[in-house]
Amino acid sequence: MDLQGKRVLVTGGSSGIGYAIAEAMLKRGARVVITGRRPGALHEAAGKLREFGAVETVAADVGTEEGRKVTLASALKALGGLDILVNNAGGVRAGRLEDTSEAEIRAMIEVDLVAPILLTRAALPALRLGGDSLVVNITSGIALVAAPFYATYAGVKAGLAKFGESLRRELKGEGVHVMTVYPGATDTPMMRSSRAGPELGFVREPPGAVSDAVMDGVDKLAFEVVRGGEARAKMIALNREDPAALDKRFLDLKPALAEAVRDHSAL
Ligand SMILES: NC(=O)c1ccc[n+]([C@@H]2O[C@H](COP(=O)([O-])OP(=O)(O)OC[C@H]3O[C@@H](n4cnc5c(N)ncnc54)[C@H](OP(=O)(O)O)[C@@H]3O)[C@@H](O)[C@H]2O)c1
Repeated sequence: MDLQGKRVLVTGGSSGIGYAIAEAMLKRGARVVITGRRPGALHEAAGKLREFGAVETVAADVGTEEGRKVTLASALKALGGLDILVNNAGGVRAGRLEDTSEAEIRAMIEVDLVAPILLTRAALPALRLGGDSLVVNITSGIALVAAPFYATYAGVKAGLAKFGESLRRELKGEGVHVMTVYPGATDTPMMRSSRAGPELGFVREPPGAVSDAVMDGVDKLAFEVVRGGEARAKMIALNREDPAALDKRFLDLKPALAEAVRDHSAL
């Protein structure tokens, strides 16, 4: 897909992976709206991104109906339409299920699953008008191999992945492609409260590596972009062929992993 002049909305574009995708799209000539809840972070991000092209911001919570309305209406107004929706805003709370509050569980379901579904539904009429449009859903590698202590996050990210797969087929031949991105551990503010490192399989890559792969996927109109390299690919295959072998591996890692992700929270 040629991004020159494309009108792009990146939810959660003020930080991390969303910011890197916004920058990469701007460099290819797209016009971009970034969103987030914190006006200060948005202002700072937009200040840096303007070096690469035209950026507008929307401060709103996509986890609420009102926030989604404001997000889409403001983006359509600023861009005069929409060609690409990047559902990137997300949140996580790790830890044992019994130690996770109902509010934290509901926050993950709302922001990571309900928000992208409803925002996509609302954006579809505008996306159809362009005739060469794209929805990019940022899920997680955890949707393919669900690690312990991330049960709700794995559930909602896997839900988002299947939402995208079904919608891609529903929209086939109608001018709107749907691509699913599965980042591995990425060095962003979301990971600051996790102490899980390479010894536990969490090798972090920079957000720019994810956005480079996303751009490659956009070029090819790929179905999916899976990060984590060969090691991750082997794990995904093993999870299908012999899930008990992975259960054993996780059993050995469980005490250290439980401790390392106990405080991992970014909601
Ligand atoms: N980092 C990783 O290792 C990793 C791995 C796999 C998948 N992912 C996924 O990648 C996506 C981006 O994560 P990241 O690592 O780049 O995180 P990040 O650096 O913390 O950025 C998250 C962005 O989303 C925004 N956001 C969060 N909740 C929001 C809400 N309710 N409404 C509107 N904006 C909201 C944040 O801004 P405000 O805080 O101001 O709202 C920020 O701009 C997420 O969907 C995450 O699940 C990340």
